[in-house]
Amino acid sequence: MGLRLKFNLVLLVGLLVGMGLAGFLSYRLIFEAARAHVLSEASLMAAQADAISGYTAEEIAPLLASQFARRFLPQSVPAWAAQTNFRAIQKQLPDYSFRTVVLNPTNPADMPVDWQRDIITALQTNAATTQVVTERASPAGPILSMSRPIIISDPACLGCHSTPDAAPASMIDLYGSKNGFNWKLNEVLGARIVSVPMAVPLAHARETFTGVLTWLVAVFVVIMILLNLMLQFVIIGPVRRIAASANEVSLGNMDAPECVVRGRDEISSLGESFNRMRRSLANALRMLGE
Ligand code: HEC
Repeated sequence: MGLRLKFNLVLLVGLLVGMGLAGFLSYRLIFEAARAHVLSEASLMAAQADAISGYTAEEIAPLLASQFARRFLPQSVPAWAAQTNFRAIQKQLPDYSFRTVVLNPTNPADMPVDWQRDIITALQTNAATTQVVTERASPAGPILSMSRPIIISDPACLGCHSTPDAAPASMIDLYGSKNGFNWKLNEVLGARIVSVPMAVPLAHARETFTGVLTWLVAVFVVIMILLNLMLQFVIIGPVRRIAASANEVSLGNMDAPECVVRGRDEISSLGESFNRMRRSLANALRMLGE
């Protein structure tokens, strides 16, 4: 096996391992960053939903309470306000959503579908869980959902969610007396689920990763070319010249020109040593001949 082949094989193995490691690490970093970006979007949405709910409970509900004797106004319900706001947002950004789903909802539209039910079960089985992050496929690409449990800790909520008798009559007129009652304090009743599409950040991450890989391969090729050029000019070329000169000497051709090795490295000093040895040999032969 020639020096060039050996050298290139070792180089290839080293660079491939290096590239594999760099590729793997950058893949993880880039995709983790994309996921972190989606999660921070989801946190922002959850905070917005909380803000809308809080505003409705503190500012709007007291103003509308006096109306309940005549008619019930869902505008005073925090969960209604938050979901209505996000439905408006969804008109512009169809894949983003915010839902408050409850196993026994006041409004049947808040009944969970299968994947939402799974999340509620997960939140119920582990009472210490404050947040569940899940991903699911959709026609528009993967969607990340960040879910937090709905737990009632304020007894005032039971004014409308304990028994139909306790709730305002106008609310029963509107929603009926079958659903949304018998809620218990400090139990996981459902989940507030924020969903954020991952398709765009993932596409960006894939683009970035392809860019990083392309650069890695380009650097790899440039390193291979530079080291091969160096190998040719610094080692293989001079060694071949010294070998050719040694061949001439071994055939008794003492008049062949001395090999020229430029530079001040180990190979050039080998060339010089060889030239000196050749001169000494020629001198010795000449003395023997005399
Ligand atoms: C004045 C009555 C009333 C009070 C007080 C009230 N709610 Fe409700 N709640 C409703 C009604 C009515 C709905 C259905 C709104 C709709 O149409 O989306 C609802 C809906 C909800 C929902 C969405 C799921 C569902 O049942 O449709 C959640 C969650 C919720 N309420 C939690 C609470 C919490 C927590 C409190 C206390 C901070 C509270 N509610 C206080 C009347 C009330």
